[in-house]
Amino acid sequence: MAKGHESVETNVSLLIVLTLVVISIGFVAIVPPLFFQSSLTQPVAGLKPYGALQLAGRDIYIRESCMVCHSQMIRPFRAETERYGHYSVAGEFIYDRPFQWGSKRTGPDLHRVGGRYSDEWHRVHLINPRDVVPESIMPGYPWLEGTFLSTETIQKKMRVLRSLGHPYTDEEIKAARAALEGKTEMDAIIAYLQSLGTAIKTRR
Ligand code: HEC
Repeated sequence: MAKGHESVETNVSLLIVLTLVVISIGFVAIVPPLFFQSSLTQPVAGLKPYGALQLAGRDIYIRESCMVCHSQMIRPFRAETERYGHYSVAGEFIYDRPFQWGSKRTGPDLHRVGGRYSDEWHRVHLINPRDVVPESIMPGYPWLEGTFLSTETIQKKMRVLRSLGHPYTDEEIKAARAALEGKTEMDAIIAYLQSLGTAIKTRR
């Protein structure tokens, strides 16, 4: 037996081949089943695709790089669930393309911020965070308030998302331009923030 092991360890080609065989077994055992596990591939009950205004707000969130300082991923640890609410589950991100999990928290996690504050609080906070949180180091985004949304691409965007499986109806797509008409970027990003994490009720 020891001899057999030695012959593997001293023969590089054989070692590589056997290593690949072992890794492949692990891969086949772990990865393909994930595609068939409905808790990872199906939306959680009550999850809706973003409405037109929320979708526009999400683009502004991405444009302003909010994810550089904010994660949207509550881990299943006591310290996190006590502070933010129910931990994040895969089925909540089915309509996020791409998801905004982020990788660093300079500010708090935002996955369950929807409904935590009033629209007015967000407005004041986004214009100048120090007006509501004096010690805040978050930058202000005052230009969002004065910039009106472009209505040009929203319907096309929703049609593309529908082709990827987001269940938008013809009526929703038809009404999308009107939903953005006269709305500012501030209105849109607040609508997006207020929708975050609301499919699963939090304890707070
Ligand atoms: C430089 C890092 C940084 C960036 C960029 C940033 N934030 Fe923040 N954010 C913070 C910090 C720090 C706090 C905590 C203090 C406060 O509430 O202002 C915070 C707090 C928040 C809160 C309140 C969260 C809570 O649970 O109290 C919201 C909402 C928020 N940010 C949204 C945004 C949005 C939207 C953007 C992009 C337009 C953004 N932030 C960009 C650092 C940042």
